[in-house]
Amino acid sequence: MPQEVFEKSAQAILNFNNSDLSILEISHRSKDFIAVMDEARALVLELLGLEGKGYQSLFLAGGASLEFLMVPYNLMKVEGKAAYLDTGTWASNAIKEAKHFGETVVVASSKEENYNHIPKGYTVPADASYFHCTSNNTIFGTQMKSFPDTEIPLVCDMSSDIFSRTIDFSQFDLIYAGAQKNMGPAGATLVVIKEAILGKSGRYIPSMLDYEKHIKAESMYNTPPVFPVYASLLTLQWLKNLGGIPAIEKINQVKADLLYSEIDRNPLFKGSAAVEDRSIMNATFLLYDETHAATFDTMWKEAGISGLPGHRSVGGYRASMYNALPVESVQVLVDVMKELEVVVNKQNAVTV
Ligand SMILES: Cc1ncc(COP(=O)(O)O)c(C=O)c1O
Repeated sequence: MPQEVFEKSAQAILNFNNSDLSILEISHRSKDFIAVMDEARALVLELLGLEGKGYQSLFLAGGASLEFLMVPYNLMKVEGKAAYLDTGTWASNAIKEAKHFGETVVVASSKEENYNHIPKGYTVPADASYFHCTSNNTIFGTQMKSFPDTEIPLVCDMSSDIFSRTIDFSQFDLIYAGAQKNMGPAGATLVVIKEAILGKSGRYIPSMLDYEKHIKAESMYNTPPVFPVYASLLTLQWLKNLGGIPAIEKINQVKADLLYSEIDRNPLFKGSAAVEDRSIMNATFLLYDETHAATFDTMWKEAGISGLPGHRSVGGYRASMYNALPVESVQVLVDVMKELEVVVNKQNAVTV
């Protein structure tokens, strides 16, 4: 999260809006918090270019994983089916949940190749209730660069790349994203829905899982995650002041280009995702020769980098470059990679 968001959040924990109360203790029904929720919901639609286009935004709890369940509950018709693209662990978790509701067609999967690319050339069944995809595969470092043109509602899990790049967001009917990557602290999940797709499943939906109930209650059907929503609002304001998604996209592209060009240039490293599907948020890469791992690990830790090991299902390394990460931080990693090359060359020279 951006430094200024940490500072403003810290201040609000001590004294929110000069109320002599902490954001952690105010009532979610207070006028000050209702204003926060309203502004956050409106700013989401503004930044995504979806204002006045029939969309509603919600801040819910339960994580993106609860949306794996809420989506079929609300959208899959009784006796109907849904279509899914299997591009990684999270997509496959969404598929598992959908199977509890009815026929779940997996239109394509890259599982056999350990999800190292985004499948292409698949057909989406026209009689499915919706098509679900995952825009960015956090673990595997792949990202969808385009989305299928479907007649049926298009649903997308954007947990790890929302607000990071310009997309025509109006092609989607439902977008969801856990706050904890590009928006705020863990605890809130953003859901953006085209209202017209709701109320058609023919299912009884428990109240807490019913998008229509949450919309009617203006995202306050029950006590919302007050602090995560407030911190998300601060991040959204930061993004707007920066110039919105087009401005952050330029910065994200600079970061991704910087790192991927080093991965491609440096003879010690190789990228693990197909080049055309590389994510600008999560860059996954490996050492050709694992015997250099101990030296590299010591070097990046000493440089102040944290969280670089890849997910156990991929191995190697994963550099997450979410919106708030400065270009300078990516440069630190690139410098360490270059330095490793120097060290290895010296070792090789000695050996020779
Ligand atoms: C793409 C994607 N979807 C879903 C999830 C699950 O999110 P949560 O932990 O909020 O349920 C994650 C978590 O990293 C993710 O990266």
